[in-house]
Amino acid sequence: MERALVIGASGGIGQAVEAALHARGVSVDGLSRSRDGLDLTDEASVTRVLGAVDGVYDQIFVASGGLEIDGAGPEKTIRAIRATAMMDQFALNAVGPALVLRDAARLLPRDRRCVFAALSARVGSIGDNRLGGWISYRAAKAALNQVIRTASIELSRTHRDSICVALHPGTVRTGLTQAYARGHETMSAEDAAVNLLSVINELAPAQTGQFFDWAGKPIEW
Ligand SMILES: NC(=O)c1ccc[n+]([C@@H]2O[C@H](COP(=O)([O-])OP(=O)(O)OC[C@H]3O[C@@H](n4cnc5c(N)ncnc54)[C@H](OP(=O)(O)O)[C@@H]3O)[C@@H](O)[C@H]2O)c1
Repeated sequence: MERALVIGASGGIGQAVEAALHARGVSVDGLSRSRDGLDLTDEASVTRVLGAVDGVYDQIFVASGGLEIDGAGPEKTIRAIRATAMMDQFALNAVGPALVLRDAARLLPRDRRCVFAALSARVGSIGDNRLGGWISYRAAKAALNQVIRTASIELSRTHRDSICVALHPGTVRTGLTQAYARGHETMSAEDAAVNLLSVINELAPAQTGQFFDWAGKPIEW
């Protein structure tokens, strides 16, 4: 039976991904900060919680992340940059998934297709940035994209059939977007999960190290 590990399984998209994987007959284990004490901004917690995970997972899906952290929302102008808020963005959205990669890559099988997917965001694309604003979140997701790209190259040396990708889920109705989605076309977390899993299912190892949206279209870095 196929096995998946969802990190951030308590979130809007994470919960829906877990449910959609179950519905496909995949055996899923979920981990989160609120239920399991897996705080991605605390290296010791990542090492402890992931160090206790055993077995082989065909898919590791990182659905954690944040737009507003400790009350600091996305900046509208560079004048609003605050060092602490920017560091918090990097800690959660870039360093956190990197630590997951470090401690969970050992769970991926070397002898067959396996997937490491992390939720990034289209606004993390440098080439696609035409609006400005949200500088810390954008920069942290751009850093995550580089983490994924770099790790994908190394992973494919030890895991020939690995697929390591960054995904944009679309604008999804979750706690994260509640205050920001006005005027945008949105989708339910359930639809987003089905879309994202369909994209993952269609990917081949030759497409590792890329950034895809929920429809499977590549996004420029
Ligand atoms: N929703 C969208 O439209 C949208 C668009 C583009 C990208 N994304 C990305 O998709 C991902 C999931 O978003 P969502 O909408 O599902 O958000 P959400 O409902 O707010 O869920 C966020 C998840 O991140 C976890 N998390 C937050 N801080 C954490 C920490 N310090 N350590 C470990 N886990 C932490 C939460 O865990 P606890 O609740 O257990 O604390 C929760 O599981 C994020 O990376 C986001 O940037 C979302």
